[in-house]
Amino acid sequence: MNNDNILTQVFEKLNVYLKKDTLIDYKTPDELHNAINFSIAEKGVSESEFLALINKYLDYSVNTNHPQFLNQLYAGFNFPAFIGEIFTALANTSMYTYEVAPVATLIETEMIQLMNSYTGYKNGDGIFVSGGSNANLVALFSARNKIAPESRHQGYDKNLKLRAFINEHAHYSFSNAANIIGIGTESLIKIKADENGQMVPEALEKEINASKQRGEMPFFVAVTCATTLLGAYDPIDEIAEICKKQNIWLHADGSFGGSIVLSNKNRYLLKGLEKTDSFAWNPHKLMNIPLICSALLVKTKGTLHHNLADVDADYLFHDLNLIEDLGKKSIQCGRRVDAVKLWFAWKYFGKEGYEKRIDNLIDLAQLAEQKVLNRTNLELLAPRQSFTICFRYIPEIEVDINQFNLQLREELRKSGKSLVNYGYIGEKLAIRLVITNGEMQEKDVTLFFELLLETASVLEKKYNRIKSF
Ligand SMILES: Cc1ncc(COP(=O)(O)O)c(C=O)c1O
Repeated sequence: MNNDNILTQVFEKLNVYLKKDTLIDYKTPDELHNAINFSIAEKGVSESEFLALINKYLDYSVNTNHPQFLNQLYAGFNFPAFIGEIFTALANTSMYTYEVAPVATLIETEMIQLMNSYTGYKNGDGIFVSGGSNANLVALFSARNKIAPESRHQGYDKNLKLRAFINEHAHYSFSNAANIIGIGTESLIKIKADENGQMVPEALEKEINASKQRGEMPFFVAVTCATTLLGAYDPIDEIAEICKKQNIWLHADGSFGGSIVLSNKNRYLLKGLEKTDSFAWNPHKLMNIPLICSALLVKTKGTLHHNLADVDADYLFHDLNLIEDLGKKSIQCGRRVDAVKLWFAWKYFGKEGYEKRIDNLIDLAQLAEQKVLNRTNLELLAPRQSFTICFRYIPEIEVDINQFNLQLREELRKSGKSLVNYGYIGEKLAIRLVITNGEMQEKDVTLFFELLLETASVLEKKYNRIKSF
């Protein structure tokens, strides 16, 4: 194969892909098996076959850059970050030592400092991790190692009865984390949220006290900064007071909504952030950095080193004393260079540019909420707090509303015109519209509602026909 030739053609394909206006060309698994030969043969493919495979991969993948990709908490194409991703792969290295990643080490260090200038951690530290779930894991792990440092060597002593407290709507990664660090999922106590989805501080305090009375040891509270479905922000300031009084580690899971810290206008939702002990911040969501780009920030330097039990790897860390090797505070050995694409993007947009992007998301979410409120056949199922709008369509015909909305979102999905997700608020199925693509414009929100209402109307007619049949 001729690398030059392939590269030229690949860049042409990139250009074509970026102009593509199809969201998705849906295929069933069987159809995909027919369209693409997934198996690996003894002999490698030719140049033209190789290029054809790229086409097929792109043809049948979801175009998450599309402004109607409204399904997940990540979306959009971020040009400078994309360039950063390519060059990161080109200079392929691992983040463990300065020796093999000199520029990337300084970039990650700079990014952690910059991010901490927003959290308000004056003596802070941090590390890029492989996603928000893992940021939550490392936070829980750090809290466990603070309260029970001997666990690092002897394993967790069950008699300690450590207990962690989370919003009932918190992300499922906390269950996995509790499992992994050995306290077990039953040590995770879910705190009632109010009708906005926010943790109720009084309920938290009551549960902490009840836990203590049972002879348990509360050691960790996580507030969520934008819950996955409702986009709700827990009241950090009030909860921080409780944690201070009770001497409990307070973690803020900003995996989804943490980037709001960049906005002067909207940062009030994170009031009290500087009082937390750790903060999960996922630039691969609201900052539109290609997956994965995620950091765990901690309030106190030394926390991350302390987590690890005697790193004894002189074959890797040579302690040249030039600068700290970042690998010594990570639970990973090989680690992707995820800070560089963030750095390229932040350089490109500047602090001001990113603030505008976040504000744009909130403005568009407000617009979407207004569109729901303005239509009598749309019902807002929870007050909007940030980037998600949970609503449903109320058909005029007599029909199971959940079933209708489920079908509505399915029809929309299958049409390939717009992709939106859903979840349940109590018994009610809610269509969750999430605005996370910084390039989105008002016209994209308008088009979404046009497509949804059009699809709903066709569906209603279909139901009517079946009824009168
Ligand atoms: C509130 C919250 N926490 C954690 C996560 C997990 O983040 P990641 O997907 O990067 O592991 C998510 C993902 O959607 C989330 O919404």
